[in-house]
Amino acid sequence: MPAARIIAVANQKGGVGKTTTAVNVAACLAASERRTLLIDLDPQGNASSALGEVKTPHHVYSALLGECTLAEVVLGTDLEYLSLVPAGPDLVGAEIELVNSEERERKLELALASVVDRYEYILIDCAPSLGILTINALTAADSILVPLQCEYYALEGLARLLETTELVRGSLNPELALEGIVLTMVDLRNNLSRQVEAEVREHFGERVFQTRIPRNVRLSEAPSHGLPILLYDIHSRGAVAYLQLTEELLTAHAESQGVSTSSQTAPAASATSGESLRSGGNDERTA
Ligand SMILES: Nc1ncnc2c1ncn2[C@@H]1O[C@H](COP(=O)(O)OP(=O)(O)O)[C@@H](O)[C@H]1O
Ligand SMILES: [Mg+2]
Repeated sequence: MPAARIIAVANQKGGVGKTTTAVNVAACLAASERRTLLIDLDPQGNASSALGEVKTPHHVYSALLGECTLAEVVLGTDLEYLSLVPAGPDLVGAEIELVNSEERERKLELALASVVDRYEYILIDCAPSLGILTINALTAADSILVPLQCEYYALEGLARLLETTELVRGSLNPELALEGIVLTMVDLRNNLSRQVEAEVREHFGERVFQTRIPRNVRLSEAPSHGLPILLYDIHSRGAVAYLQLTEELLTAHAESQGVSTSSQTAPAASATSGESLRSGGNDERTA
């Protein structure tokens, strides 16, 4: 299998929908039978708990420090094609502990090297900062996917993020691309939301996904059940939006690779109930 496409889901602002987007795009990719790995790179571990992580002693940080391989910390999930590298609270120490280590920005890239050919997609859920962990993600990634909430100052925050991306491109990772900007928690009845959207689309044009993620209470409930939205409520507006976003992403990749774009959608996901998407037995789960 060719090397996975590595996508960092990043925005230094908290609460903009990074984790929700990373978890649910990863789940939709898996539902369309793309082998997908989700890496939780936020010490808060929200992506891990959103997938109902079982308690394990080893987390992503052990792999960053080289105490074990990344493959050793991979867990299975309720979806056959989706695996998870969980984060633990020890990741908080990374910002300080990595400061003096050699090639500190390349720890994740190095750790990923041994697994990139096992997956088609690797998504990295970043912490709300532009610290060393996020720099590691941007260094390892092929592209950055930016969830953006339409509110005041959204564009200023975005400008800073894109500056950082530029810096990484100039030094650590010349190939880093912008996968796209996705508007999250959209409320079309809200005037400000519509104004900000118009502005973002004017500035960034095609780099903004057509699909918007609406504000949808089912999306905020799913993590407490340890389930991606597809398995929690496949008929919700949130599920439909994330399936559509994933289809857009797959279509863009297929086009860039010169492949026919028809039927890129998640057939399993749209044709069946959430229950039947579960893989049942799971040999990768370690506990
Ligand atoms: N589209 C949405 N509709 C409703 N609630 C959402 C939506 N997206 C995210 N949330 C909720 O908003 C909060 C912040 O989202 P999250 O994805 O954790 O953001 P981040 O990872 O950027 O901090 C969470 O409680 C999440 O469940
Ligand atoms: Mg998060």
